[in-house]
Amino acid sequence: MKLLVNMKKITAAITGVQGYVPETILSNEDLAKIVDTSDEWITSRTGIKERRILKEGASSDMAAEAARQLLEKTGVDPLDIDLVLVATVTPDYPFPSTANVVCDKVGMKNAWGYDLIAACSGFIYALSTGAQFIETGRHKKVLVIGVDKMTSILDYQDRTTCVIFGDGAGAVLLEPNEEGLGVQDFILRSDGSGRQYLIQPGGGSANPPSHQTVDDRLHYVKQEGKQVFKFAVTNMAEVSAEIMEKNNLTSDDVDWLVPHQANLRIIDATAERMGLSKEKVMINIQKYGNTTAGTLPLCLWDYEDQLKKGDTLILSAFGGGFTWGAVYLKWAYDSKK
Ligand code: UT7
Repeated sequence: MKLLVNMKKITAAITGVQGYVPETILSNEDLAKIVDTSDEWITSRTGIKERRILKEGASSDMAAEAARQLLEKTGVDPLDIDLVLVATVTPDYPFPSTANVVCDKVGMKNAWGYDLIAACSGFIYALSTGAQFIETGRHKKVLVIGVDKMTSILDYQDRTTCVIFGDGAGAVLLEPNEEGLGVQDFILRSDGSGRQYLIQPGGGSANPPSHQTVDDRLHYVKQEGKQVFKFAVTNMAEVSAEIMEKNNLTSDDVDWLVPHQANLRIIDATAERMGLSKEKVMINIQKYGNTTAGTLPLCLWDYEDQLKKGDTLILSAFGGGFTWGAVYLKWAYDSKK
């Protein structure tokens, strides 16, 4: 009994973050030359000005680059990584998993890992999952990666989807913390009855690849934007407010909202529902667009310099599935730069 009282609770803290975006930029003006759209429409409806495009290579290449740079930056030996979780809807192959490929490319020979599909909520699903392995004491070093090469499933004849998405990856290192920092709580939800509104219909076991599925362009992202918008704007705001209430947080207690970058109007509505001013909201949608599982770690990477030990962050996302949720975490370190 005495032993139990003296034991400190282990929490899973993010101890490093690193992003990777491809060099090639595709601007709104570039897209206006390909489909019937305009910089004005894209900017006013979404907030996106440009996005990155991976010309050669696969999701694993972006993920491996982010992982490699993260390990270098944090001084961690690849052989010390226990587990690698890769959130993605654009894996290199249906199988083997992208996590397997990334472990091989980075030399994380002692790690096991797997891919996790939860579309734009992929990173918060994977972060919450990874945290469990740290909290139980099972693992000491877990890499959580969000990556998508959305251009591999975009239809450049469909102006309603091809202007929204981009390519990119972000990775965080999770380690045990005894100061109570790191992941505090999460609320994760799903509703598969919304699947038809945002889906890649072809290529899986429901519609295996055939000439017909290719002719019907079923291997591309299909989205009913208005429907998704309606669900996203309500649920992302609601779940973000819910996690604050559940943990007795007021808007003054929250230092940062880290929102999925799908649409500036959805982000604004979420911040408003939480009572947060614009200065507390991480935004980089203008330069990367929607990188699906990549958005949240890319935000953390871009804002890392401004984060302080002890800061209260709410990560929040909504995506295909439908999937959505929020994570409450306490930042564990001051920027090293
Ligand atoms: O990240 C995963 C979750 N995804 C989301 O959260 C996305 C949620 N949805 C959205 O962000 C928005 O619905 C979009 C940005 C996708 C679309 O914005 P919207 O304000 O809902 O536009 P809409 O789909 O209602 O289309 C309005 C008009 C239509 O023309 P008509 O029918 O009014 O003549 C579209 O055909 O805009 C037209 N349109 C375009 N025009 C120029 C659609 N796409 C484009 C385009 N350029 N790229």
